[in-house]
Amino acid sequence: MEIVHVSAECYPYAKAGGLADVVGTLPKYQQQLGHIAKVVIPMHRTKFLLENVWSVEHKGGFMMGDRHLEYTIIKEKTNKLDYDLFCVDIYGLLDRENIYSYDDDTERFTAFQIAVVDWLSHWEHRPDAVHVHDHHAGLIPFMMRNCFAYRHLAEVPTVLTIHNAQYQGWMSWDKSNYIPDWDSWQWGLLDWDNTINPLACAVKCADRVTTVSPSYMEELMTSANGLEQLFVQEKFKCSGILNGIDNVVWNPATDTYILDNYSLPDAAAGKQLNKKKLCKDFNLDEKLPLFVFIGRLVAEKAADLLPQAIADSISQLGNKMNFLILGSGDKRVEDQLSYLTGSYAGYYNSKIGYNEKLSHQMYAGADFILMPSRVEPCGLNQMYALRYGTIPIVRSTGGLKDTVVDFGEPEDSLNALPGQGLGLRFNYASVWDITYSIHRAVELYDDKDKMAEIRKQIMQIDNSWEKSAEKYINLYSSIQIK
Ligand code: ADP
Ligand code: GLC
Repeated sequence: MEIVHVSAECYPYAKAGGLADVVGTLPKYQQQLGHIAKVVIPMHRTKFLLENVWSVEHKGGFMMGDRHLEYTIIKEKTNKLDYDLFCVDIYGLLDRENIYSYDDDTERFTAFQIAVVDWLSHWEHRPDAVHVHDHHAGLIPFMMRNCFAYRHLAEVPTVLTIHNAQYQGWMSWDKSNYIPDWDSWQWGLLDWDNTINPLACAVKCADRVTTVSPSYMEELMTSANGLEQLFVQEKFKCSGILNGIDNVVWNPATDTYILDNYSLPDAAAGKQLNKKKLCKDFNLDEKLPLFVFIGRLVAEKAADLLPQAIADSISQLGNKMNFLILGSGDKRVEDQLSYLTGSYAGYYNSKIGYNEKLSHQMYAGADFILMPSRVEPCGLNQMYALRYGTIPIVRSTGGLKDTVVDFGEPEDSLNALPGQGLGLRFNYASVWDITYSIHRAVELYDDKDKMAEIRKQIMQIDNSWEKSAEKYINLYSSIQIK
């Protein structure tokens, strides 16, 4: 099968979060299963673009409203990622340093999608599936069926994967002329609540819809930032397929970012050496349990609760633990987290920003990772943590619920999915639930045998993409036209 993935991000070319990790890895595993997987993303001006060699694959042009736009499709020449990576350049709109957050994002991503469909329409053959990720690619299934110029793509099967339904790509109806001439009888497919909603449009138009964990799919029926009713209506074509991780990139035995490589037999010593280095770099006490948080400092991740939860834990338990936070996002939370450094020097530190290398060192050196997320469609951090022998402390939601069971539950009531990891779980995104879990973790840390037993168990869990990559292949097979 030949699959074309369309996304805003792809690791290592351009990453803002887990979407990049997934789109960067799933195609690799699909290739290993004997299929041809291709990825197409906007041409962001990143290090990867500048450091690699590219060939021009196709050039074309289209009208977007009253603007004529020219695009170029370039391809990474050396097959560095084990699959073909294509980038779309559009003069004046793409070729920028950041992935998102420009005032003209609507124009940028609409133009990107038109260019992708236009390019596909010039292929001499048809791919077996076009797999679009999140709202940045959400108009593509609509355009393949309803734009007069692209109707010969109408039969190509399409799949939408929702990594995050909080963001939907809303655009006002006065921008409907951006979409190349389309069958206006079909306006209802674009609309949700009097707005053009690219995510809702993709849910309506794609042949199949997946979310990145089964629990998140269920949650969307009752909580989907306004789209609940749509998910209920379209339930028949929706399913949840749990993300995997790249076992090669995320491997403590070979990770070149960490100080000391380790695997199961020498995990205790290996982790301690990594912890020692981390604690030295951040002025923390290596003898105390180390709790980390890595991620976007936004409400979805409940990052706003961290400053209070950390302050309460230290004041209630005394200096019995260390915290290290890595992240960026909401300015107010960034400031609060930086401010705490002054109050709890020696036990708390933070690094505001994005730092891939430091994130690996934290997965390796930490004892516990905190994930109090209000919304977590899948979450990859907990799976990386498990692989590095770091115990996840998670709120029971979405993919966190599907990948982590509480170590305290009786064995026979665990009801675990195959491969579920052990950690600490709590129900509410509240300061109290987080501090209570930290108390439990501090107690667990003192039980060295139990810690070793849990570490041994979690490091053996296979969360690689193999199983899930196969599930996507089966999904594409089920929608082929006979
Ligand atoms: P999301 O995509 O919602 O941000 P995920 O758990 O799926 O959450 O993936 C987050 C990914 O981004 C992980 O690979 C994590 O290590 C990485 N990450 C998040 N914030 C940072 C940061 N500040 N520095 C380095 N890596 C980060
Ligand atoms: C989104 C979700 C996250 C998920 C990631 C990859 O960013 O917030 O939970 O792991 O996509 O699918």
